[in-house]
Amino acid sequence: PDLESLLNVDEIEEVATKQISRKAWAYYYSAADDLASKSFNNTVYRQILLRPRVFVDCTACDTSTTLVGHKVSLPIYVSPAAMARLAHPDGEHGIAQACGLFGAMQLISNNASMTVEQIVADAQPGQLFGWQLYVQNDRAKSEGQLARIKKLDTIKFICLTLDAPVPGKREEDERSKNIGAVLPVKSAVQGGESTSQTSSSPQTNFNPEIKPGGIGQSLFAGTAADLTWKTTLTWLAKHTNLPIVLKGLQTHEDAYLASLHAPQVKAIILSNHGGRALDTAPPAVYTLLEIRKYCPEVFNRIEVWVDGGIKRGTDVVKALCLGARGVGIGRPALFGLGAGGKEGVARVLEILKAETETCMRLLGVAKVEDLGMQYINTRSVERD
Ligand code: FNR
Repeated sequence: PDLESLLNVDEIEEVATKQISRKAWAYYYSAADDLASKSFNNTVYRQILLRPRVFVDCTACDTSTTLVGHKVSLPIYVSPAAMARLAHPDGEHGIAQACGLFGAMQLISNNASMTVEQIVADAQPGQLFGWQLYVQNDRAKSEGQLARIKKLDTIKFICLTLDAPVPGKREEDERSKNIGAVLPVKSAVQGGESTSQTSSSPQTNFNPEIKPGGIGQSLFAGTAADLTWKTTLTWLAKHTNLPIVLKGLQTHEDAYLASLHAPQVKAIILSNHGGRALDTAPPAVYTLLEIRKYCPEVFNRIEVWVDGGIKRGTDVVKALCLGARGVGIGRPALFGLGAGGKEGVARVLEILKAETETCMRLLGVAKVEDLGMQYINTRSVERD
């Protein structure tokens, strides 16, 4: 397709939907139960109003910031999402290439469909990555993966995902479980299952033997459900010196607990897993508002990032105004790949960057760090 003619993230999703396999679409699109959280994620940003100021010189507009101490050109990063090669052979390496063009950070899924070494191989100097971990029942497997990550100095932190000890009930994914040709990445992934310590296999937890329930169920077989505040961070400290980013926090109580683990924990990601774990769990905006109200000191102790439903530059800017430092995109990157490989992902980033700049300029804000609560009206999303 002519990517330039695609003007927004929804149009890219539409084109990708026509191009990728039905099974890939079902896996990417799906969310838990009635898709309530997935739909809140997006609609909540539309309910927040902007408060633009006039007579402000905004000829210059700087979207750069830092994430866990590293400079990035955009506050927008790519969230960890499994199985990118279902969308396009460029896969996670293609996402990395697109991020390199825009100075954006990428989080690599534990269930990526290429090896982590392949994904970071052609990175730009200074390009920034995190690696996401699902701790496995077989701890030795996770420890082996962490040892492998240690050798890659472009990977700056470990992102530990906590909101999905079991997958949510994703009916669209389950419905497509019997649709033919399982995965274009089948052989690589199957290799990954048995020989994940070798450098040529993806670091994935995919188990092709588990058929019921679609791709999600297969990926989650073997994921540990016994992680705790008491034990897991101590275990992790024994196996990595990298800072930890905790992903999938959904309450101010857990945000506060995470902040007590600074400096090992450097950031938290408020996320309901794109609505794919617990349906009717809150969108990140509600959790941001809770933290602001009950424990605002969290923002000073650790960085707070968000993801879920980000489709417009105005969404990005609103999250930043609420106190988020980083803003993640999951499906938009996958659908970008589906629409046009690495160029499709680059188009997604280009659109979101341009929309973010337009929004900042029209608000009268020249720098990311100047965004704040004075630029939004949250009345319609505050409930208590
Ligand atoms: C995900 N997500 C996810 N998260 C994670 O920590 N590890 C993973 O492997 C995956 N895999 C994954 C696959 C697919 C197909 C999707 C859509 C999502 C969740 C992801 O990181 C992020 O939280 C959401 O995707 C954000 O919501 P949006 O941007 O998709 O609305």
